[in-house]
Amino acid sequence: MSMMDIVKSRRSVRTFDGQDLTAAEKEDFLRYAETVPNPYGMEIVWKLLSAKEYGLSSPVISGTDLYFAGKMKLQPGAEEAFGFAFEKLVLYAAGKGLGTTWIGGTMDRGAFERAMELKEGEIMPCVSPLGRPAAKMSLRETLMRKGVKADSRKSFEELFFKESFDRPLSREKSGDLGEALEMVRCAPSAVNKQPWRLVVTPGAVHFYEKRSKGYISAQGWDMQKIDMGIAICHFCCGLEEQGRTWSLELKDPGISAPADTLYIATLRLVD
Ligand SMILES: Cc1cc2nc3c(=O)[nH]c(=O)nc-3n(C[C@H](O)[C@H](O)[C@H](O)COP(=O)(O)O)c2cc1C
Repeated sequence: MSMMDIVKSRRSVRTFDGQDLTAAEKEDFLRYAETVPNPYGMEIVWKLLSAKEYGLSSPVISGTDLYFAGKMKLQPGAEEAFGFAFEKLVLYAAGKGLGTTWIGGTMDRGAFERAMELKEGEIMPCVSPLGRPAAKMSLRETLMRKGVKADSRKSFEELFFKESFDRPLSREKSGDLGEALEMVRCAPSAVNKQPWRLVVTPGAVHFYEKRSKGYISAQGWDMQKIDMGIAICHFCCGLEEQGRTWSLELKDPGISAPADTLYIATLRLVD
């Protein structure tokens, strides 16, 4: 399967078939997690957790005992790094036919944080179930998907711009960046808000967060910056699929941005 096929066919899976993963599958997943890079170069500790063993629960998930979670030091860029790396795991699992769901809200957070042995100064933004998708979604899952319009995404022109925010970019005019931008467009986000806005300039793509109220945690980290890490991950996967190389820069290009729209990072296209 190509990365584009994986991105297009992935969806959040909340209803699982009750079968456990084999020991070899668990080991393979953990091994991948331990090597997964993030362009911020930050360390993230990953664990596979048994719900029964640690008393974990999420009211939206059924049919699996297995979850994965990551923790890291709270520092500038932590959310983006976490979003990038966690999404790599989500796409890896999807490529193996396994189901996941990003969960940042609907869980017993205290139980997960205890299972992860979270220390002062560390964060565990999100967790995910891991298992084989059930043949049929639960009624709750179907209703949840409707509630956030999970099957739809904003248009190209609403998300992507050429050189300034007053020049929307269409798929037709996006040239050889079209595929990578489409991969960003399809990405998952908290409450399907799709806060990413991208401005394309010659040789670079600048990522901005269109912020909504209510996404800052009690610890001070921003759930929508996790979404930004996911967008960067999808864009990089798209570039890599075309054999292109990139580098991440944190240098605001000074483009005038609308209210509540925050500069996050620049992807410099190396070739
Ligand atoms: C950072 C983040 C947090 C999320 N938190 C939850 C959550 O707490 N509960 C839940 O059921 N889904 C959660 N989701 C899943 C989104 O609702 C889902 O990705 C979005 O509706 C798009 O649907 P799709 O993943 O099926 O494409 C979260 C997604 C992201 C990226």
